Amino acid sequence: MIFSIDLCQLISFPKISDPRGNLTFIEGGNHIPFDIKRVYYLYDVPGGSERGGHAHRMLHQVIIAMSGSFDVVLDDGKGKKRIHLNRSYCGLYVCPMMWRELDNFSSGSVCMVLASERYDETDYFRDYQQFLTAVNEQ
Ligand code: TYD
Repeated sequence: MIFSIDLCQLISFPKISDPRGNLTFIEGGNHIPFDIKRVYYLYDVPGGSERGGHAHRMLHQVIIAMSGSFDVVLDDGKGKKRIHLNRSYCGLYVCPMMWRELDNFSSGSVCMVLASERYDETDYFRDYQQFLTAVNEQ
């Protein structure tokens, strides 16, 4: 399968609006296209910081701005797209073979990531040239 940037779309999750505070829920395999094996989150991100800077061979992810805002720059080796995330009921699906960078974090922002697999360093491309070579071999 060729993983194109067009597969990486925003997903709106159910939102139960309530004067006591809104509620959103996410069910693996239902609201997102995989079962969730891992959740991790970035927080206490200093201003001007950049995260990401890698791609994954197999991993599917959904990135959510749980609080505050930040940008995700996606790159499939052929084109790039910058997406601003600032809604806790909205997630960005990121398919495998997608170089991603996160920047423009607002102060106090929290970035939560739902992932299809447990942490596996061998699934990472951390070198952009190696990523491009692999994309061109697809
Ligand atoms: P990394 O994925 O490079 O972070 P980011 O994409 O947010 O910049 O991970 C940073 C470090 O944390 C790296 O040493 C691996 C470790 N880590 C885990 O041990 N488990 C995890 O689930 C994740 C995401 C990272």
